[in-house]
Amino acid sequence: MKQKGVEDFASKRVWVIGASSGIGEACTIALIKAGAKVALSSRRAERLNALAQAGDQEQTLVLPLDVTHQEQLADAHQSILATWGGLDLLLFVSGIYTPLRADNFDFDVAQKTIDANLLGPMRAVAVVLPEMLKSHAGHIAIVGSVAGYSGLPKALAYGPSKAGIINFCEILYYDLLPQGVSVHMISPGFVATEATAQNDFEMPALITPDEAAREILKGIQAGVFDIHFPKRFSGFLKFLRILPYPLYFWILRRFVKI
Ligand SMILES: NC(=O)c1ccc[n+]([C@@H]2O[C@H](COP(=O)([O-])OP(=O)(O)OC[C@H]3O[C@@H](n4cnc5c(N)ncnc54)[C@H](OP(=O)(O)O)[C@@H]3O)[C@@H](O)[C@H]2O)c1
Repeated sequence: MKQKGVEDFASKRVWVIGASSGIGEACTIALIKAGAKVALSSRRAERLNALAQAGDQEQTLVLPLDVTHQEQLADAHQSILATWGGLDLLLFVSGIYTPLRADNFDFDVAQKTIDANLLGPMRAVAVVLPEMLKSHAGHIAIVGSVAGYSGLPKALAYGPSKAGIINFCEILYYDLLPQGVSVHMISPGFVATEATAQNDFEMPALITPDEAAREILKGIQAGVFDIHFPKRFSGFLKFLRILPYPLYFWILRRFVKI
């Protein structure tokens, strides 16, 4: 059994959470260009409003919210249903990253990171699932990270939040395939955005947000579960995670200078 893709984004009703910058912004622009109806969410309403101008009035819906608030997600979902009568694709892109090592471990940062990056998508999925299950249709796409594959330096809170996304998506996929709801787990490598502008090291295989958006939308169209890119980097990290731990940590200490 193979899950469904999206033949054509034209007129599809898409909810992009994390639309105001970076990868989410690039996906939003590409979806609007492809003729999709796009609901734009994140906290910065003024950026969402400016971005919504890329489409005509019937095509976009600006729904500012904070993913750490369940009721804001539920209200936004109700607005989408009231306006468009349904939702075809939830594209959850929102996420935060604060570099964290063991010698500056800060529980408050860890809690905020898990709340936004892991509980945020879980809240959104809890909000959209009942309708999708009822109609035996729909797509759930969540942006995780290759940093969730295995432990990497400076990711003491971010890494666990993204590892959780991988597990969450795997189980969602298992449960939802027989129900006709497609799941897309998205694991980008380095993408040049506001989030990575703070990195003080050379990022290997760095790509642009537009390239990331192309990979994401192509994967969703084809019905792919495991969307990862750029392959030269994500493929290498997939290989690293199957190595025995002594070898894995040796390679990390020898070659990762961050
Ligand atoms: N850039 C990379 O190299 C890379 C690599 C792997 C994975 N990723 C993942 O890709 C996703 C997008 O990252 P990006 O690089 O494009 O970063 P970005 O430019 O900083 O975008 C992050 C987005 O998340 C939104 N957001 C953050 N906290 C939120 C909250 N509490 N409620 C609602 N929206 C919130 C931000 O909007 P507001 O500030 O307006 O709320 C913004 O739209 C993240 O999940 C990130 O972990 C990025």
